[in-house]
Amino acid sequence: MSVIDGYTYGQNATSPVTLDDLSDLRASVLFGPDDEEALRLAGDVLESQVEDVLDVWYGFVGANPHLLASFSTPEGQPVEQYLARVRVRFGQWILDTCRRPYDQSWLDYQHEIGLRHTSAKKNHTDSANAPSYVALRHVIALIYPITATIRPFLERKGHSAEQVEAMFQAWFKAVVLQVALWARAYGDGKEW
Ligand code: HEM
Repeated sequence: MSVIDGYTYGQNATSPVTLDDLSDLRASVLFGPDDEEALRLAGDVLESQVEDVLDVWYGFVGANPHLLASFSTPEGQPVEQYLARVRVRFGQWILDTCRRPYDQSWLDYQHEIGLRHTSAKKNHTDSANAPSYVALRHVIALIYPITATIRPFLERKGHSAEQVEAMFQAWFKAVVLQVALWARAYGDGKEW
């Protein structure tokens, strides 16, 4: 089994978000057992395509200077090692989104991912010399491309239109749910 640099799933501090909060958020995004089932299928569909998905997403980040800046030095030089290490964890995140039970360990890692986008922990994991946070507005806005670009990959393994739609909707909900959880790491959390 290969070890992923900086991937600390199962070893994080307890999230300030409770399982009850999670339950409310799941209700808000209409996330239910059918979505869990559709995500399991999406995991099987995406497993062999993870690198291709990452190529699309990294292409998108690389093509947008305001996004690439989060991975670049103050002089504007992309930090290749940082991009590469985060890429591997991003790939694992695709499979975790599809396959992990959304339990306490998952909730704890969600909070950790949130922190890693903020000045609390950005750059720490990879000792990167890059901006100290990713603006929340950009994280929210990225929900759209992270969702829209997944559909062709879900279509590629011969599933019915109905199955593809179910996987796509479940993916969309799972991404919105996670970004809502990550938002807890921004500010003092009082109004989260
Ligand atoms: C890290 C997903 C938005 C920049 C990560 C990781 C994931 C992720 C899974 C790795 C977490 C880990 O360490 O295990 C997402 C998703 C987003 C989003 C799903 C929106 C829906 C953004 C945006 C930017 C960004 C808009 C700006 C370019 C970064 C950076 C890291 C990172 C720089 C590394 C943070 C660190 O230093 O640890 N993201 N992200 N992300 N993301 Fe995002």
